[in-house]
Amino acid sequence: MYARIAGTGSYLPERVLTNRELESMVDTSDQWIRERTGICERRVVADGQTTCDLAEQAALRALEAAELKPSDIDLLIVGTTTPNVVFPSTACLLQHRLGLGECGAFDVNAACSGFIYAMSVADQFVRAGTAKRVLVVGAETLTRMLDWSDRGTCVLFGDGAGAAVLCADPEPGILSTHIHANGGYGDLLKTDVGVSTGFKAEPGGGVRVSMRGNEVFKVAVNTLGRIVDETLAANQLEKSDLDWLIPHQANLRIIKATAKKLQMSMDQVIVTVDRHGNTSAASVPLALDHAIRSGKVQRGEKLLLEAFGGGFTWGAALVIY
Ligand code: UT7
Repeated sequence: MYARIAGTGSYLPERVLTNRELESMVDTSDQWIRERTGICERRVVADGQTTCDLAEQAALRALEAAELKPSDIDLLIVGTTTPNVVFPSTACLLQHRLGLGECGAFDVNAACSGFIYAMSVADQFVRAGTAKRVLVVGAETLTRMLDWSDRGTCVLFGDGAGAAVLCADPEPGILSTHIHANGGYGDLLKTDVGVSTGFKAEPGGGVRVSMRGNEVFKVAVNTLGRIVDETLAANQLEKSDLDWLIPHQANLRIIKATAKKLQMSMDQVIVTVDRHGNTSAASVPLALDHAIRSGKVQRGEKLLLEAFGGGFTWGAALVIY
């Protein structure tokens, strides 16, 4: 049995934050942000709006596209680093919201690789025959933990959610998934406080993203180059066999470096980072949903999905849509 993408959905909060607006907040420029990242604007959640709220909209759209009812789902996995609360998990909150019954529901925290990790777990359940219809979601409200005075991070991230329904099918489907991590790089991209290390006596508990961007950039380019090689080799495929690259949307220069490594034209690469910035675990499913709904990706085509993020974590999935 293969896990086949039956439907996808995505959702972005209404509030658009432009590069121009950021110019009045930190020492940056629209030109710098566009040239160094490819980002033109990002979305920011409204007061009171949560990760689960975004996930719910994306999930409802994916269920509709898959022509399934909530009660058809037998497993829910949410990739997120910005859960509503420590527990219940965002997956449990979402399960109740959607009325999925008593199916298994849990979160996966792999930072920006969260959706690929969640997809990989879902794929194992489907292959093992223990789940038939899995709802996989990537949802984040990263802006809730940004330091809006740090130009090295606040111009990069945004909020959003994406989802896919994976159904057991004798026809492929996900051909393979590959996940990796190296905790030795943890300090390059992180938050310093949390539950067991203790929050700080300041609004939001002092949880904020810190990143040594240039160092992350170099490892990301190198590592993504290796994971695409590993994924192709595992399937005995050549670069030229791929129809589409659906990458993590962090930086257009990283995306272009991976496309170059694959000898793929940018016409075969899905780019959405310009419209929503780096939405962490939501970025791959946002790009996937855009690719499908815009009619670019057609049934039967081979897609390479990949992501890289804090931890460091990274992963890829080779999929026949
Ligand atoms: O999704 C998880 C993984 N995360 C990533 O993949 C992010 C990886 N990193 C990146 O995308 C890039 O490293 C950044 C976009 C964060 C930075 O781009 P860069 O080309 O690596 O720039 P840099 O850090 O080497 O900085 C170049 C210059 C510096 O000034 P000086 O020292 O040359 O005078 C920075 O201080 O750009 C300056 N700078 C900025 N200038 C205007 C840094 N941030 C900004 C800014 N606006 N927002």
